[in-house]
Parts: sequence; structure tokens; C-alpha cells
Amino acid sequence: MASSSPSDHKATIIDGKAIAQTIRSEIAAEVRHLSEQYGKVPGLAVVIVGTRKDSQSYVSMKRKACAEVGIKSFDLDLPEDVSQSDLICKVHELNANPDVHGILVQLPLPKHINEEKVLSEISLEKDVDGFHPLNIGKLAMKGRDSLFLPCTPKGCLELLSRSGISVKGKNAVVVGRSNIVGLPVALLLLKADATVTIVHSRSSEPEKAIREADIVIAAAGQPMMIKGSWIKPGAAVIDVGTNAVDDRSRKSGYRLVGDVDFHEACKVAGWITPVPGGVGPMTVAMLLKNTLEGAKRIIVQ
Ligand code: GUN
Repeated sequence: MASSSPSDHKATIIDGKAIAQTIRSEIAAEVRHLSEQYGKVPGLAVVIVGTRKDSQSYVSMKRKACAEVGIKSFDLDLPEDVSQSDLICKVHELNANPDVHGILVQLPLPKHINEEKVLSEISLEKDVDGFHPLNIGKLAMKGRDSLFLPCTPKGCLELLSRSGISVKGKNAVVVGRSNIVGLPVALLLLKADATVTIVHSRSSEPEKAIREADIVIAAAGQPMMIKGSWIKPGAAVIDVGTNAVDDRSRKSGYRLVGDVDFHEACKVAGWITPVPGGVGPMTVAMLLKNTLEGAKRIIVQ
């Protein structure tokens, strides 16, 4: 075999799309079993408020994915100007509906609605996004287990474990501190016994911490911010960023890039996720998995 030099080193690409497809097949088989054995299928309510293009596209992906694995989706499309109390009424109705095992309210919500208040009204047993303050609180505490883990963070850890990358004792750096990804993925890595550093927009020298990382989780929402020279040779790089950048060569006029400069990082990292086709498909797969787990807790007594 030809010897390799640092210049032609190529990271192993973690194929999130293929891994997510495997998980979706596993879920479809379990849903069929539930249906045959108990005459019931899992149900997921997907609630969207308003007409944001990105949210609409995420929601339609989630609804389509449900149909593919046999999960019944309950679709609620509410107008941009729906009142907070009307939205909360809908959440209460879904909490009371025995055919609904999971409730997802797509974020962000319009400015006049208090997101924290709405999320805390979702029944804990149906909180498939894992965003209820009690579920997040339990995730933060030693020796406590939340009923559901947030989907994107859970997907990141699933990608690491299915790629044979251990987390225990490793230096993990999370870039970004959002409620949806950065914070919960850092808590999850900590629970998995990593030594965790979070860097964010106010960190003075993020690249210094990133250079020490065996595992990088990039969730800053900044296109190609993380350069190849910031990556420790052999590190595992999980890129959560999904940023649209202008590209006149495309019919659509744009393309999606991650938070990591993929071509540079490929030459240094041990493993890397592509954008698209890395973390994105895993978020949807984990939502289906959470819904199935929630339904099993109710259906299988
Ligand atoms: N907006 C962006 N990501 C997510 C997610 O994972 N769940 C919900 N509910 N909204 C989002």
C-alpha cells in the first residue's frame, strides 16, 4: 500500500443519510410489530405557526418521514397571528388525545408568543423534542434521566457511536450555546463522560480550545467559520450547521454549507459529517425514534 502524507490524508466521511435510513427501517419494523400485536400505531402532532419557509420545509420533512415509517401524523397549521392562549389550548387538546404520543411545536415561534410558556405546557410524556424545562433540567443533573433527549443532540451522539467513536474521557468542544443544540449536546457529552468545553460568540480565542478537541460539535450557525488549521489531526468533527450561501452556479441560486470548512477539515480530521447529508437526516430519525419510544411506554403495558 502507498504510504500517505499529511497532505493527502482524507477523513472518513460519516454518512448521516445512510445511518438515518438504517434507523428508519428499524423504526418501521417496530411500528409494524406494534400495529400487529396491539392494533395501535404511534401518533405525532406537528404544530407550525406562521409561514417561515425554513420551518415549513422542516415540518413537511418530518410529516413525510412519519408517513414512511407508519407513524400517524396530526398536522396543525396555525396562522402567524394566532394568540398565545389559543396555541396553548391546542396543546392541551393534544395532551388529552390518546392517539397522540408526541407533540412537536416547530421553533422559532412568532415574537408575540412566549416560547418558554408554550413548551412548558406540553405534557412531559409527549415532549418528543425534549425541550420541556423539566426534561432539560434532568438532562443537566447527574443520576437523573429525562424522558426524551432533544433530537439533534441525540443524533450527534448516535452518529459518533454508530461510527465506533468513543466519547468517554475525550476532550469535546461544542461551538455554540443554543437551547436547541449547543447547550443540550454539551450536557449529553458530559453525561457520556467527555471533558466538555463550550465556546461561543463571546469566547476570546475559540480556535485555541478547538485545537485541543478530540471531538468537535459545530453548532454556531456561521458558514465555514471553523478552518482546517483549527482541527486537531484525527479529530471527529460533527457539523450541525446548515447555512444557505449564494451560489449563482445553482438553479436555486444557493447551496448549503456547514459551520466547518469541509474541504480543509477533510485533510486533517479523522472523521467528518458532510452538509447536507450528515446531522440533518439524523434529527428527523431521532424524532421518529422518540415518538416510537413515547408510544411504547403507553401502548406496551
Ligand atoms: N427548530 C429548529 N430545530 C428544531 C427542532 O429540533 N425542533 C423544533 N421543534 N423546532 C426546531
